[in-house]
Formats: sequence, structure tokens, C-alpha cells
Amino acid sequence: MSGASPHPRVADSGPVAPAPVPDRAPAPVVELAGVTKEYPGGVAALRGVDLTIKAGELLAIVGPSGSGKSTLLHIVGTLDRPTAGSVAIAGHDVGRLSDRKLSALRAQHIGFVFQAFHLVPGISARDNVAEGLLYSGLSRAERHRRAARALERVGLGDRLKHRPHELSGGQKQRVAIARAVVGEPDLLLADEPTGALDTSSGKAVMQLIHDLNQEGATIAVITHDTEIAKMLPRQVRIRDGQVVQDSAAQGHVRTRIRGDAP
Ligand SMILES: Nc1ncnc2c1ncn2[C@@H]1O[C@H](COP(=O)(O)OP(=O)(O)O)[C@@H](O)[C@H]1O
Ligand SMILES: [Mg+2]
Repeated sequence: MSGASPHPRVADSGPVAPAPVPDRAPAPVVELAGVTKEYPGGVAALRGVDLTIKAGELLAIVGPSGSGKSTLLHIVGTLDRPTAGSVAIAGHDVGRLSDRKLSALRAQHIGFVFQAFHLVPGISARDNVAEGLLYSGLSRAERHRRAARALERVGLGDRLKHRPHELSGGQKQRVAIARAVVGEPDLLLADEPTGALDTSSGKAVMQLIHDLNQEGATIAVITHDTEIAKMLPRQVRIRDGQVVQDSAAQGHVRTRIRGDAP
């Protein structure tokens, strides 16, 4: 993954135009301001979340079950829209984009890794990874070449033809990571990536995440596990739908907390 430019892969003919940010520092990869999400029935899963993620960061979004982590992942990942507030990804204001353009933006800029891997059963590891390039406009042969390279990168160069049921949990997650990064997204979002793994496979996955970040990838790891969070350079603590602490804010504890200690 290239670390040279924060937003390297804007397709020249794609439906999403490059963001208009001349003469200034590059836009953050993620910029959330005042994001609120209310689900039908009245649950406020997020309440006024501000969050900025810059290119090259590796951070944990950590909080207990029900605190709003997955909701936040869905909104940062543009899989869902906020009830209020603004979301910008690589300088694109998500609120201004149609669903179609949003899908294009997502395919171009964001890679996802989930606790349960979400690999396609019955097809090879290489074909699973090549799925990550489905909307790239690349030929099938080139998608396969890049998929093989990505699998080599995650240490599975000898498992290209294995199908998911022939792989261990840790290997499946490494295939999922290869699929998420094969298109060199600006942002990798991982939701409890070690949640379904034994301790040693989990460590290997976290090491891979660290290595990818060293190579330039911007990565947010969503976790309920404070031990995993502590291993990462930045921790954003979320509770009851609010950011209660952000280590990047140099100890500054955010306000708007009602009655709840950080
Ligand atoms: N689709 C939904 N409809 C209604 N309420 C939801 C939905 N998804 C999540 N919630 C509620 O929003 C809150 C935050 O959930 P979630 O984002 O999944 O938290 P976490 O990932 O931290 O466990 C919880 O109270 C949950 O019950
Ligand atoms: Mg969750």
C-alpha cells in the first residue's frame, strides 16, 4: 500500500470527482462533525460525535457493548447516513452525494474487515481477494495478479486456491484483510477483527495491521477490548454514543458528557 499520497487512487473517469482542495493541506481521511444517529424507535446510538482521522493514523475506537461502535463504523464507512451532523471522507461531503456516488466513493476509498470475515464460501482465497477490485475497472487477469500479490503480502502466497472452509480462522481473517487492502483504500475499517480468533491468531492479525500502517495505511480498529486498544497509537473512547476521550486530543476530555465519567 502506498503512503506517498493520502488519496492516491481517484479514477480519472469515475463518477466521483476529486475533492476540491487545492493549495491547502490534504483533507483528513475522515471528518465527522456533530454526528447523531437515531434509529427508528428512538434509540440515539450516536450523540454529537466529532472525529477527525488523518492520513497515516492507526487508531482504536473502543467502548463497551452497545456504546455505538458499529453504528459509528457504518457511518464512517458510508454504509449508513447520520440523522444529523456532517461526514466527509477524503474531502467528499457524504451528505451531498447520491446513493450511487456514495457506493462509488466507498468502493474507491474504504476497505472493510469484519469479525466474522464475510468471505464468499466455495470460491478460492484469490477470488475472494479479487472481489475487492470488482469496481476498479481492471481486467480479470490484472485483478487476479493483484489478488495473488495481496495474499503474498499477508503471508498466504501458498494458499491462493484454498477455499474458506480449508483455512483456519486466522488465515480467513488475513484473506479478508488482503481483500480490504488490495485496492489501496484511503481507509481500512476493522470491526472487532480479532473477536473470533484465538489469542495467537489474534496477535498475528494485529501485527499485520501494524505492519500495513507502517507501510502507510490509515486504519481504524473498532474494539471492546481495552488490551487491544492499548496496543495502538491513538485511542478514541466511546460511551453511550459519545466520544468521552480521545488520546489525540492530548488529554482533553470532551464536554457534552452528561453524568457519566469517562
Ligand atoms: N438497526 C438498529 N435499530 C435500532 N437500534 C439499533 C440498531 N442498531 C443498533 N441499535 C442500538 O444502538 C445502540 C448502539 O449499538 P451498536 O452501534 O451496535 O453498539 P456496539 O457496536 O458498540 O455494541 C444500542 O443500544 C443498539 O441496541
Ligand atoms: Mg458492535
